[in-house]
Amino acid sequence: MNLLAPLRPSPARPSSLIRSNPLSRVSARDDFAIEARHVNFSVPTRQGAPVSILKDCSVSIPAGQLWMLLGPNGCGKSTLLKILAGLLAPTAGKVYVRRPRSFVFQNPDHQVVMPTVEADVAFGLGKSNLTLEEVRSKVFQALDAVGMSDYMQRPIQTLSGGQKQRVAIAGALAEACKVLLLDELTTFLDETDQIGVIKAVKNSLDKSEEVTALWVTHRLEELEYADGAIYMEDGKVISYGDPARITDFIKDKQAAYINDINC
Ligand SMILES: Nc1ncnc2c1ncn2[C@@H]1O[C@H](COP(=O)(O)OP(=O)(O)OP(=O)(O)O)[C@@H](O)[C@H]1O
Ligand SMILES: [Mg+2]
Repeated sequence: MNLLAPLRPSPARPSSLIRSNPLSRVSARDDFAIEARHVNFSVPTRQGAPVSILKDCSVSIPAGQLWMLLGPNGCGKSTLLKILAGLLAPTAGKVYVRRPRSFVFQNPDHQVVMPTVEADVAFGLGKSNLTLEEVRSKVFQALDAVGMSDYMQRPIQTLSGGQKQRVAIAGALAEACKVLLLDELTTFLDETDQIGVIKAVKNSLDKSEEVTALWVTHRLEELEYADGAIYMEDGKVISYGDPARITDFIKDKQAAYINDINC
């Protein structure tokens, strides 16, 4: 796997936006599915003074792309993702995320609630006024996008962790989700499942240019699938844009760290 190979963005997508600096742009919401502007997040402490977790974070993610969010443990990745998902409110700053948006959690067993794959993906469509045939068609298309259409009748408990993640993603797609926010989905998965989940996300985006995804990961090898990447440290966005450049940036940091501890 060549981590340093430059990625060719899909021609249908706004490749010129990948390298643009979003802070120098006037907000163009037609282009961006996700935007955070000068987002801060603090939590109160018993001692009184609040602790700052996110510090002036700004990111803009073009619609239809898969971006990855990386950084050391505790740097604020999940907090930023939760703010983008609307699960936490920023202390300051502005957030725009296309809707519907869906947050997919790390543990596959927390995602899937129904006894079979078909029932689970159809679950969120229960409140819509669709006919049974329309529901079945949406469920099939969503499962097809994540490569799980042969598993419609399978009991959930017979699936691997990665297959459960793909069913959870299909559930979001069936509800016409425009933004997928995915927090370290591959942590508990073996290598085959990891690749299966990331390919499923990539394929979902290829099938519908309406869908945009932000994927939190620690694995540099997953950057191969990304259209863009964001690197955070200590609550701040340090670098973002071209995934090959971010890969080099992280590898240089790792090399400098190893050099330091060997001296
Ligand atoms: N409600 C809270 N109260 C106090 N501290 C918090 C709270 N939520 C998050 N933190 C702290 O904020 C920092 C960022 O947490 P966050 O979970 O966003 O990091 P992360 O980058 O996702 O880490 P990891 O890679 O381990 O998942 C951590 O130091 C964490 O302990
Ligand atoms: Mg986290």
